[in-house]
Amino acid sequence: MLAGFAAGTRSYNVRDLVVRRTSLQFVRACICTREAMLHSRKPRTFVSPGSGDASPGEIARRTDGRAPCEPVVAQTIAAIPPSRTTNASQRTETAYDLGMTVADSLLLLDDVQRARERIGDRLHRTPLLPSATMSTRIGADVCFKAELFQRTGSFKPRGVLNKLATLSDEEKRRGVISISAGNHAQALAYASALEGIDALIVMWQTASQLKIRAARGYGATVDDSAPDIPSAFERLDELVESTGRQLIHPYDDPLVMAGQGTVGLEILEDAPETDVALVPVGGGGLVSGIAAAVKGSKPGARVIAIEPELSAALHESLKVGEPVTIEPRSLADGLNGPYAGPNCVEVCTALGVESVLVTDEEIKDAFRFLYGRMKLACEPAGAATAAALLSGRVAVEPGQTVAAVVSGGNVARETAAAILAEH
Ligand SMILES: Cc1ncc(COP(=O)(O)O)c(C=O)c1O
Repeated sequence: MLAGFAAGTRSYNVRDLVVRRTSLQFVRACICTREAMLHSRKPRTFVSPGSGDASPGEIARRTDGRAPCEPVVAQTIAAIPPSRTTNASQRTETAYDLGMTVADSLLLLDDVQRARERIGDRLHRTPLLPSATMSTRIGADVCFKAELFQRTGSFKPRGVLNKLATLSDEEKRRGVISISAGNHAQALAYASALEGIDALIVMWQTASQLKIRAARGYGATVDDSAPDIPSAFERLDELVESTGRQLIHPYDDPLVMAGQGTVGLEILEDAPETDVALVPVGGGGLVSGIAAAVKGSKPGARVIAIEPELSAALHESLKVGEPVTIEPRSLADGLNGPYAGPNCVEVCTALGVESVLVTDEEIKDAFRFLYGRMKLACEPAGAATAAALLSGRVAVEPGQTVAAVVSGGNVARETAAAILAEH
């Protein structure tokens, strides 16, 4: 089923989705380029930051002996119909069988455990809150992992702290740079201040003023001279070139993914009986990390990626086995990734992550549920997992234990008030 793509006569297996060029090309490929928006579903080359801190032997094993820096070419993979469906809801969970196994994963439980050691006690241990109302409604034991209470208001500093801890002194001295509309910006600003690293974040004039102020408040320099997103990417180009700063990717760096995976370790410590973990998805870093932690500890547990129908980058990518570009339009701005990271697609494929979509109306209903019943003032992105449960789109067996991640709480008061006032 694998169609080799370009590069002379050589063809590649699915692992070769992991490729690298320069980190800047990588971030441009993975976040939001105008070109990507325009050329949906074209195979492209991607860049991998490598296998993080794995040993050379481990890297060789995970990359089939190929040096992790060797440039390879991404390939197209014919769409394969879902291998698993249930009929308990209108829309069913799907896992796509692309012939990968856990052994193919470039992210493993060890990576997440090492991330936890690096992060240490610098972040909050967020609570896992049981919900009697939700449990009664769906006939399973449901609890919510409240990452909205994490420092900076989302899970994001977990991944950033893990990544920053691995930079060399020289890289730290040169400072870091990224581009973000919100939660990653705040996390990078916060974590860089903790590490004594200078952070420069490119945002744009139409980005949330609340989030720009928050990133500055944590001590980062925010360059918001660009009028819009495309010009912000041009600005990022210039600044990376002229400053030589280290780029910190918001989701597709295995070290960032491993840091986010510490959420999964905590879930299993607090509820070892967890059968199903529900995770909101934008670019796929959080769900990849959690899948590595959960599947690595409990191979029989299910990990389900929840995305808005209006921003289904990972869902579409899992179908075809490579990152697919979309035009995200969800009200859940934290989940509006134009496409999932190639490394995230690979990890989710290897670990059998399932995929479920929810509507924006369902996210709003869940937002009101979490506020009204759980007293959780989350952002719309954080309500996606509750939406999947309330709408019946995720089917669970009676009596199973379900952990749903509420991933963030950075929402403008006006947005929250408008959603709460509906109905
Ligand atoms: C609140 C919130 N939830 C979930 C996500 C999705 O994370 P990822 O991009 O790692 O899939 C994001 C990403 O920015 C976010 O801000």
